[in-house]
Amino acid sequence: MLRCETLNVFYGESHILRDISLEVRDGQVVCLMGRNGVGKTTLLKTIMGLLTPRTGHVYINDRDITSSPPEQRVSRGLAYVPQGRELFSQLTVEENLRLGFEARQGPKDHKTAELAYEEIYTLFPDLPALLSRPGGVLSGGQQQQVSIGRALLTQPKLLLLDEPTEGIQPSIVIEIERVIEDFKKQRRFAILLVEQYFEFAVRLADDFVLMAKGAVVASGPAADLTEEQVKQHLVV
Ligand SMILES: Nc1ncnc2c1ncn2[C@@H]1O[C@H](COP(=O)(O)OP(=O)(O)OP(=O)(O)O)[C@@H](O)[C@H]1O
Ligand SMILES: [Mg+2]
Repeated sequence: MLRCETLNVFYGESHILRDISLEVRDGQVVCLMGRNGVGKTTLLKTIMGLLTPRTGHVYINDRDITSSPPEQRVSRGLAYVPQGRELFSQLTVEENLRLGFEARQGPKDHKTAELAYEEIYTLFPDLPALLSRPGGVLSGGQQQQVSIGRALLTQPKLLLLDEPTEGIQPSIVIEIERVIEDFKKQRRFAILLVEQYFEFAVRLADDFVLMAKGAVVASGPAADLTEEQVKQHLVV
């Protein structure tokens, strides 16, 4: 599904990502882990096309998308839930969600829309009551539900989730975990999840990729993460 090959990314002259290679297979949940500032968000932005690598390649289903703009990547099945949510704060919840639905490929008729929104409201039952509110007035947890809902409405093949539980009340963290777990069972799309909290990550991930100082220091099945690696590189 997704393959990154020896990515090197710079902010100006700061070398942030160093020879990053990783792979996410169809339907798999891969957790990208590492402490603050190791480059997790930078990597997701590079995969999404918001940053251009100085060297290296990004492939989706063996097609090289390294120089494709973000909107073309969306039409190839990438969806991105950024750290900090980034809703359009002036737009209502309904308008934010519609941006996701409109970005999908395939039919967008009334019946398709009804079913698609119904699924999102079943996953996040708080949303229907918030539809007319501007995104900017919602709580962090509510914004995260809208942001995930908007990404799901694009019908992704790969969902990039950047620390979806950061700064969110526990009841919504549980809800988000349940949603990710449900999709994992269905294997409808792959998920690349950024998370620095070991417990949450290890419950959900098939595979892990552990980063330190801009480089991958370990990767493999989640069950193979050692206590030593966790202690050295993660928040427990
Ligand atoms: N726009 C920018 N310009 C310059 N340096 C940046 C910029 N954004 C991030 N950095 C630097 O790049 C490095 C990696 O940042 P990044 O946000 O990718 O880390 P992260 O692993 O996502 O951290 P966190 O867990 O805190 O979200 C950090 O040293 C950060 O200070
Ligand atoms: Mg980050």
